[in-house]
Amino acid sequence: MRKKVIAGNWKMNMLPDEAINFIQELTPMVEKTQNEVILCVPYTDLFYALLNAQNTNIKIGAQNMHFEQSGAYTGEVSGKMLKAIGVEYVIIGHSERRQYFAENDETVNKKVKSAFENNLKPIVCVGETLEQRENGETKEIITSQTEKALNGLSNEQVENTIIAYEPIWAIGTGKTATKEDANDSIKAIREKIRQIYGQNTAERVIIQYGGSVKSSNAGELFEMSDIDGGLVGGASLKVEEFSKIVNYNS
Ligand code: 13P
Repeated sequence: MRKKVIAGNWKMNMLPDEAINFIQELTPMVEKTQNEVILCVPYTDLFYALLNAQNTNIKIGAQNMHFEQSGAYTGEVSGKMLKAIGVEYVIIGHSERRQYFAENDETVNKKVKSAFENNLKPIVCVGETLEQRENGETKEIITSQTEKALNGLSNEQVENTIIAYEPIWAIGTGKTATKEDANDSIKAIREKIRQIYGQNTAERVIIQYGGSVKSSNAGELFEMSDIDGGLVGGASLKVEEFSKIVNYNS
């Protein structure tokens, strides 16, 4: 049985004092959950978040990283730097980074490999645009993004990758994919992984759904056969709401 992994993506929100308060409030609310809880916070919150999440079941992730270890890349942060302060997870290839910061399948793959070199667990985002969906290209796009992101990884590395299926038209719009649609897309991703890496790896890899997840729809989504939790944007900024999503099954 795969476990459910619920990750918050704060995006460019939350100052350090807000992050500290959030984690201190969240801690007792989620301490009994069987689900894995991750908060992916801005770089400027990482250190505070890590300190406040010590000795709790809340794991901390970053939202991006550079694929090189160090060098003349002004303004960038490497996987090596994230690992050095104790970060465990890193989101790679979020659609906002693909859309606004020229990330593509090639840079996503380099970052995923670099994450593993630095013992970070990547949360790799894939998803189709509304136009691609309307053209009937959803499965082709998301399976191709998955294949390219994972290219060159070992089976063990693939099993330690979290994939987040986030249809772009559902992000921040209040529109959620139906649970059947989301499950179908995630099944297609798992089938692609099965073709390349085999049945065991496909059964072990965690694939989340993301896009307007909230407490009122989390349960029905996460109870689907192939949806292993969620990557939550807006609803992860409110502690009560996020705790309800984490505790959807308790
Ligand atoms: P929303 O939950 O705000 O739609 O954002 C989803 C997302 O992009 C998480 O990475």
